[in-house]
Amino acid sequence: PVGLSTRQPVFLVGMMGAGKTTIGRALARTMNRDFLDLDHEIVGRCGVSIPVIFDIEGEEGFRNREKMVLEEVAQIDGIVLATGGGAVLREENRALLRRQGIVIYLKASVDELYRRVAKDRNRPLLATPDPKARIAELLAQRETLYESVADITIETGSGSISSVVKSIHNLL
Ligand code: S3P
Repeated sequence: PVGLSTRQPVFLVGMMGAGKTTIGRALARTMNRDFLDLDHEIVGRCGVSIPVIFDIEGEEGFRNREKMVLEEVAQIDGIVLATGGGAVLREENRALLRRQGIVIYLKASVDELYRRVAKDRNRPLLATPDPKARIAELLAQRETLYESVADITIETGSGSISSVVKSIHNLL
C-alpha cells in the first residue's frame, strides 16, 4: 500500500476512454469520498462544452483553463478526481498532481480505448478521419508522462469496474 492519508486527494490519469470517470465515481463511492471530474468542472465554470472551448480558444486556450481549474480543485481535501487525458501534458500540472495527492494511471490498449470512445462526439481531439490512429499517436506521446506521474498503474482492459476499484482500493 502507498499509505494514503484521509485528506489526500486521489487523482486518476490516463487516456480518453481509459475509464477515469466511471472508475473514479465507483472508487469514490467505495471510499466514501466526494468525486469530481475535471472536464465537468471546466465546463461548469465556462458555461460551454469542451468542443466549443476548443473551437473558440484552441487547444492552448483549453489547456490554460484546465490548468487553472486543476490548481483550484486539487486543493480540495479528500476527493477522488478524474483528470482529463491531456492534463499531464504540462509539467506544472504533473508537479501539482505529484505534490498534492496519490496518482493512479488507468492503462488500456489502443483497441480498448478506441472501442470506448468510438461513438463519442464530445472529444475534439478525436474529430479526425482516423480516430484510432489518433489515439495510438496520443498514447505514444503521453505514455511516459502518465507513467512518470503515477504512484500506481492499473490495467483496465479485462477487469470489471468493481474488480478494478477493488485492486485500487487495496493498493491505497
Ligand atoms: C483530452 C481529454 C478529454 C478532455 C479534452 C482533451 C485529451 O478528457 O479534457 O477533450 O487531451 O486527452 P477525457 O480524458 O476525460 O476524455
